[in-house]
Amino acid sequence: MTKVAVIGAGKVGELVAFGLVQSEVANEIVLHDIIKGVAEGKALDMYEATPVLYSDTKLSGSTDPSIIEGADMVVVPAGSPRKPGMDRMDLLKVNLNICKSVVGNIKEYAPDAMILYIANPVDVMTYSAMKISGFNPERVFGMAGVLDTARYRTFLSMEAKVSAKDISAMVLGGHGDAMVPLTSSTTVNGVPISHFVSEEKLASIVERTRKGGGEIVNILGYSGYYAPGIAAGEMVKSVLRNQRRVLPAVSYLTGQYGFSDIYAGVPAILGKNGVEEILEVPMSEKEKAALNVSLTSVKKGIEEAKTLL
Ligand code: 2OP
Repeated sequence: MTKVAVIGAGKVGELVAFGLVQSEVANEIVLHDIIKGVAEGKALDMYEATPVLYSDTKLSGSTDPSIIEGADMVVVPAGSPRKPGMDRMDLLKVNLNICKSVVGNIKEYAPDAMILYIANPVDVMTYSAMKISGFNPERVFGMAGVLDTARYRTFLSMEAKVSAKDISAMVLGGHGDAMVPLTSSTTVNGVPISHFVSEEKLASIVERTRKGGGEIVNILGYSGYYAPGIAAGEMVKSVLRNQRRVLPAVSYLTGQYGFSDIYAGVPAILGKNGVEEILEVPMSEKEKAALNVSLTSVKKGIEEAKTLL
């Protein structure tokens, strides 16, 4: 029996749940939201799709946090989303308060769960969730890099005119405008990306990736949710099925990449125990310097959050 709880049944939460229903990753998915009717209604609607989807996943939703009881994995998109003109760090105070209450509920009702944080600023929120919960850091991780990498691969596929399936790439660092797409190791099934895309075009794709979240906010007026929701589902699947996928995950650093006591996006093996191993990948000097800038900015955000914890 595997149970996934999604806390925050907004657009990202519903997409996480729907992705998991389609791939039958969990026996049971519960949604919790403080707004009356939202979690209940969306869960019932999704449940009613399961016969057609041929999925045996059972769903329910409630404003009562005890619905998450006994969950193996708790996914947390709950938080205020970005509006046009806002930086992810602008959300810190409001989302930290939500984090305190959400993590309090996890400790009470699902003390053995793993936590996958999604709300922004995700690196800082994941750090806070780990500290507030007191859980082992390998059981607390966040989603950003799978989304950022998916965006990077999409843009590369558009330009290189090859299937995104064959593009092997990774975006590391904090989930902010300083994130680092590793261009030096990006390949199309082993063929360097430079064969397909000019240096100039690659640089513009890196920039577009870094601002990918903002691009959607500017078009829609609010944050994206299809790609974020599905990306989080991929991480849940790797853990619950013990697939041991190597995915960029917001993970707790203990000296890797020259940083410790921070959370940031790094390649990790995701298995039944959560983040089972953090991997250090070869990088160009330019990428190392860029990663240093990104992680330094995450560290600053975490220092700020520490004063509010
Ligand atoms: C995104 O990148 C808002 O962080 C979210 O779409």
